[in-house]
Amino acid sequence: MLKSKPLPRLDDNNELRETLLGQCRLRPGEIWQDTVSGHRVGCLDAADSGEIARLHDGQLAQLAIHDPPYNLVCFDQRKLQEFITWCQKWINNSAANLADVSSLYIWLGADQKNAFQPLPDFMIMMRQFEQLQSRSFITMRNQRGYGTQKNWMAVRQELLYYTKGDPDFKVTYTDIPKILRGYYKEVGGKLTENAERGKSENIRPGNVWVDIQQVFYRMHENVSGCYAQKPLKCIDRIIESSSNSGDIVTDYFAHSGTTLLSAETLGRKCYTTDIDPIFCELTIRRLENYRKTGNPGWQNQDPFDVK
Ligand SMILES: C[S@@+](CC[C@H](N)C(=O)[O-])C[C@H]1O[C@@H](n2cnc3c(N)ncnc32)[C@H](O)[C@@H]1O
Repeated sequence: MLKSKPLPRLDDNNELRETLLGQCRLRPGEIWQDTVSGHRVGCLDAADSGEIARLHDGQLAQLAIHDPPYNLVCFDQRKLQEFITWCQKWINNSAANLADVSSLYIWLGADQKNAFQPLPDFMIMMRQFEQLQSRSFITMRNQRGYGTQKNWMAVRQELLYYTKGDPDFKVTYTDIPKILRGYYKEVGGKLTENAERGKSENIRPGNVWVDIQQVFYRMHENVSGCYAQKPLKCIDRIIESSSNSGDIVTDYFAHSGTTLLSAETLGRKCYTTDIDPIFCELTIRRLENYRKTGNPGWQNQDPFDVK
């Protein structure tokens, strides 16, 4: 019988962190090399160009997916301009390690607590990277929001999409069936209804994603202790649309290791980092546990306790 014994949030529990650090195989500056699929996990600072160069070891990525800490709860309190200057550094590192034909995705919260609203400043900052073309601005809807009775509940996550060169883009579909009929159009002299013209029975995700369940403790992919875990489904969608089998996918803010696991299941190589040895350890353990059990996470159990 599996125990239900979750880890609490790890960022603000110093006593527990001290205990867990003893069980982490990476120390700051170190890199774990996976001998099975060629992934790399570094305990590195995304903003440090030398450390990121060591992560890549001369290998350029075809796809980068970054999910930086952005709100005042889960990060030390950076003021807006400091935050943007910091972003500029790791974007610079990512751009330098992307192939000439590649794609870049950045998750950014639309958090507005204490007037901290980095999205427009971030988008403007990105214009200085002339080799990166702005392609789309996706919003993913969370099921559970947070907020007060005095404001609109916050349920959105923003995802910015850029390309370098002219990479392939593969169209993917949601699990939502097309129900809208109509939109007749003449094709080859025959009047066709839109369902006849479509390539799938299901609708495309578009740039507003409403079909992705946010991770919570009852889901198999849940990694307890993580406070900002992205669902595998949204990372799978990005990887399937913007990379090919065998490509290198990077993520400089690994946390629960979602990008690494998605890359593993989709046959890509992942080069990922987190500045915190505990999240590096969780990332590696999540991959190892998946290979051993087929489970994408630990649901509500403690990843450091499960044998
Ligand atoms: C929002 S979380 C990423 C969530 C991740 N996409 C997932 O699905 O689990 C941000 C992570 O960035 C890490 N981090 C913060 N500053 C960093 C830095 N300078 N370099 C690398 N990682 C950093 C934090 O430790 C945290 O685990």
